[in-house]
Amino acid sequence: MLKGKKVGVIGVGKLGEALIAGLLKQGDLVAADISGSVAHEQSMERVKKKLSINMSLDNRKTAQGKDILLLAVKPQNMHSVLTEIDDILTPDQLVVSVAASVTTKFIEQRLTKEIPVIRTMPNTPAVNNAGMTGLCAGKHATPEHQKLAETVFKSVGETVFLDESLMDGVTALSASGPAYLYVIIESLAEAGVKLGIPRDTSTFLAAQTMYGAAKMVLESKAHPALLKDMVTTPAGCTIDGLMELEEGKIRVTLIKAVVKAAERARELVNTQNSTGA
Ligand SMILES: NC(=O)c1ccc[n+]([C@@H]2O[C@H](COP(=O)([O-])OP(=O)(O)OC[C@H]3O[C@@H](n4cnc5c(N)ncnc54)[C@H](OP(=O)(O)O)[C@@H]3O)[C@@H](O)[C@H]2O)c1
Repeated sequence: MLKGKKVGVIGVGKLGEALIAGLLKQGDLVAADISGSVAHEQSMERVKKKLSINMSLDNRKTAQGKDILLLAVKPQNMHSVLTEIDDILTPDQLVVSVAASVTTKFIEQRLTKEIPVIRTMPNTPAVNNAGMTGLCAGKHATPEHQKLAETVFKSVGETVFLDESLMDGVTALSASGPAYLYVIIESLAEAGVKLGIPRDTSTFLAAQTMYGAAKMVLESKAHPALLKDMVTTPAGCTIDGLMELEEGKIRVTLIKAVVKAAERARELVNTQNSTGA
């Protein structure tokens, strides 16, 4: 579906770069199909060298005539970028935003034509083709546009379409999520160190265990509680560990962390809309 498409990426930073690398790896697109722009010359040279795509400091050139235009700048830069490119966008192009908290309405209101817009929320494991992306469609996006956007993000991991009202939840759960899970891996590794296991080995044990447990949930489709029961031998040692976790209120702490991050995402939207930035 992506073969022969021209893709522009405004803002080739950490996320933009990960997505382009994934698209090139997937194979339907070659470097000559992708153009990008950034704010600084130094970044432009770095990306050119790394990905061999067409790079410039000119967002209008990046937007012009592309089938898919990916907006991967920070939320606070979205208003100025949209204003800059508005007059050259046409309704046969698809605009895809990855900016946290920026609504499809925010984007549509800054564009004078009826441009199809898809809002997405990927995460950084996209670098290793293990990303998770939530997507929702703006009012001018057709099912075909949705399919096209889905193809882009499927090349770097898994995708799910949701109602836009749930996107702040996706931001808090799967986009912020890797940070919470790194804390858990780090803590498990510290425990290994406390028990005398060398740090590198301990981190390896913890990370591979998290990867394996996630794979079990995804592939068996069993409820996590059932999988937990399979590990917990009666009168064994796991139940003692689980009791400590319950006493430390791990469940309510994780729930509150995600809820708090979602509240913050909602605040960001209000700030942007009230300042018009
Ligand atoms: N990182 C994540 O985990 C993650 C996850 C989901 C969504 N996102 C979203 O992805 C977006 C980018 O995040 P990031 O982490 O990739 O940030 P980043 O690494 O700081 O990248 C931002 C990029 O935007 C460029 N830029 C800034 N102003 C510009 C302008 N006026 N015109 C063109 N390019 C401009 C920067 O260029 P210079 O390098 O030249 O300054 C840089 O390449 C954000 O909206 C964020 O919400 C990020």
